[in-house]
This record gives sequence, structure tokens and C-alpha cells, in this order.
Amino acid sequence: MKKMLKNYFMLAAALTLVMAMLCGCGNDNATGANDGAFTTVTEGKLIMATNAYFPPYEYYEGDAIVGIDAEVAQAIADKLGLELEIQDMEFGSIITAVQTGKVDMGLAGMTVTEERLQNVDFTTSYATGIQSVIVPEGSEITSVDDLAGHMIGVQLSTTGDIYATDDFGADYVEQYNKGADAVLALTQGKVDAVIIDNQPALSFVAANEGLVILDTEYAIEDYAACISKNNPELMEAVNTALEELIADGTIQGILDKYIKAE
Ligand code: ARG
Repeated sequence: MKKMLKNYFMLAAALTLVMAMLCGCGNDNATGANDGAFTTVTEGKLIMATNAYFPPYEYYEGDAIVGIDAEVAQAIADKLGLELEIQDMEFGSIITAVQTGKVDMGLAGMTVTEERLQNVDFTTSYATGIQSVIVPEGSEITSVDDLAGHMIGVQLSTTGDIYATDDFGADYVEQYNKGADAVLALTQGKVDAVIIDNQPALSFVAANEGLVILDTEYAIEDYAACISKNNPELMEAVNTALEELIADGTIQGILDKYIKAE
């Protein structure tokens, strides 16, 4: 049975190859942007992994995932003549999905860090993030230093999680699957503060009464898309597209649409 299956797969693979040769298509598309210069996980598609609970970068509007990253990825896909597909997963699974070739790229308000760079490559940065601290109104925590000895809520595997654990110790860090869950715990008094990126912080504070964001910036970071180290051609194509989109103001337009100047 196993052998038969194997033969079947080999036949299927051979057929696919012949078909690909017959239609002569690398990744042929309207703009001719590719011409077989790069490979994607699924031909003709740009599959992006994200964690869609991170407004305004990615969030659900009905069944659709929208937000800054969805629009940036769409603009990149358009330039490359690829069809964008977005897969929602846990934030901590994105890098593995990229590394193992399950998806083409990760775009998730993801901070470029030295540690992540050991596993994936990052494109040119398209946005800046700030790690903010959310506390209940009237909290005795008024600065980052005051966090010592208090329970801090974070989203699992994010830089907020990593820095808080480094600075204050794992015993004082409560990890949640979603940023919104950490904020919910804060409103319920289960944690004393939440460390999270400033834009989602603003939207969570707007959606929950009685919370404020401290004036201090805990960390300033660069957001970029991550791509497998084994796909330098796609990396180059995405970077070229992204740099054009930065130069012609498209990226700034997308950021301004979602981030209102204060
Ligand atoms: N910028 C932080 C990081 O890279 C948090 C990103 C969380 N993104 C998300 N889509 N949930 O670790």
C-alpha cells in the first residue's frame, strides 16, 4: 500500500512537472513581474501568515482580515502579479510556518530582532512600533521602573513578552495567546499592567474603559516582513516591490489611513 501511494505521488509529481512545462509558465502574470525569477509556496499565490488580533495592523472585519499589513501585502502581491492569501495563526507559529515553507512570508507587525534573524530574513522595514505599557487609571505604576514586582500581561512570543521576561523575570509575566486577552485580564485585575505595541494599545484602551497608556516608551522597534532564508529570490522581489511602494508614498498612505495623527 505504502509503495503504491509512493508511486502515485511520483506520478502526480511527474504530471505536474509536464503540465508546468507545457504551459511554459513560471509565474507568468499580467505585468510579467516574475518570469520564473522566484518561487512561491503555491504557484501564482503569495501566502502570508499573520495573527489577526492586532489592530490596526491586522484584525477581522466580518470574515475578512483587514488592516495595515493586509493592505501592504496586497500592494506587494499586486506588484508581483500574485494572488494574496492570508492565513491566521498564533503569533508564535508564524516564523516556523515561514521557515518550513508552509507560507511565503510573515507580516504581523513583527519586530525585527537579532534572535529572529537567525531563523528568517527580514525585508526593509515599513513601519515603526513602540512597546507601550497599559495600566488601570490611577495605578501606582507610573513608569517602566515601577513595573518591578508587579504582574505583567503580554502576548505570548512577542517582543513585549521577551523584554518583560528579561527585565522583570518569568514569575512576573503572564502570557496570553492574544493581546486582547492580556488586556481583558488587566480589566479584571488579574494582572497589573500590559506591555504591548502602541497602536494595538491605543485601540484596546479605546475599547475598554478605565485604562491608560503610560507616557514612557519601553522600546522602539522596526516592523518588517519575514521570508525564508531559502527563498532569496522572493526576498529580493518583495523588497524591490516594498521599496517602490515606500518611495511612491503608497505605504505612508496605508499607514495614514489606519493611524490618525494625534
Ligand atoms: N511587534 C511585536 C513582535 O514582533 C508584536 C507583534 C504581534 N503581532 C500580531 N499580529 N499579533 O513581537
